[in-house]
Amino acid sequence: MALDLYARIEEMFLDKEAADILWSKFIEILNKLEVKKILDIGCGGGGFCLLAKHNGFDIKGIDLSRAQVEKAVKKGCKCEAKDVCEVKERFEAAVAVFDVINYMNEDELKKFFSCVKERTDYFVFDINTLYAMEDLAIGTLKAEDENRFSVLYSEFEDNKLITEITLFEKKGDCYIKHQDKIIQYYYSVDQIEKLSGMKLVDIVPISLYGSEEAEKLILTFKS
Ligand SMILES: C[S@@+](CC[C@H](N)C(=O)[O-])C[C@H]1O[C@@H](n2cnc3c(N)ncnc32)[C@H](O)[C@@H]1O
Repeated sequence: MALDLYARIEEMFLDKEAADILWSKFIEILNKLEVKKILDIGCGGGGFCLLAKHNGFDIKGIDLSRAQVEKAVKKGCKCEAKDVCEVKERFEAAVAVFDVINYMNEDELKKFFSCVKERTDYFVFDINTLYAMEDLAIGTLKAEDENRFSVLYSEFEDNKLITEITLFEKKGDCYIKHQDKIIQYYYSVDQIEKLSGMKLVDIVPISLYGSEEAEKLILTFKS
């Protein structure tokens, strides 16, 4: 599964400062909404979930990648490997932080939103701007640690950012190669509004890497 391979290399590439800027903005928005019981959809390795817990929120995470859920649980987050449509509980707000929405194609998003809508009053999530996907994200990134070497190669075409992930992992005297692709789909706010079937109540533009143009928009919807 491509998401499991992503889970294995995420920390090699994660810009902690950028993540802190984004996560803090989500905390600020949730505080303004005066909500407490939160569902973190696509909780990943649990970084946001843990920050929210320390800020007094009653937060539960879900993620499609078992590898991510294992990391989040180890950090102390309540997190399960499941799809949002399998969630039985109701929440005051749901969040999807750091690219989660862009991972889904239109059909997947429609189904996803219809399930989210039934389980929460507010849904807060970020989407990547065209500038971030078309100009910033393209090209090659490399990272290595003691026993691993990884390359990300991204191209933007037909409103899709395709990232090829390659990981070489040392096993004894040789390296094992793992490779897979992740696709992120570009959506405008209008498209998201139509697909969501919810009411847009707030848009916060944000820059994580010092650009003058916004790299992300944080949208708040009411179901
Ligand atoms: C870039 S990571 C962000 C993780 C975390 N939210 C954070 O802020 O660090 C995106 C996560 O979304 C998960 N994901 C993608 N599509 C999903 C879906 N439909 N439902 C749940 N999780 C999903 C991936 O497995 C991955 O862990």
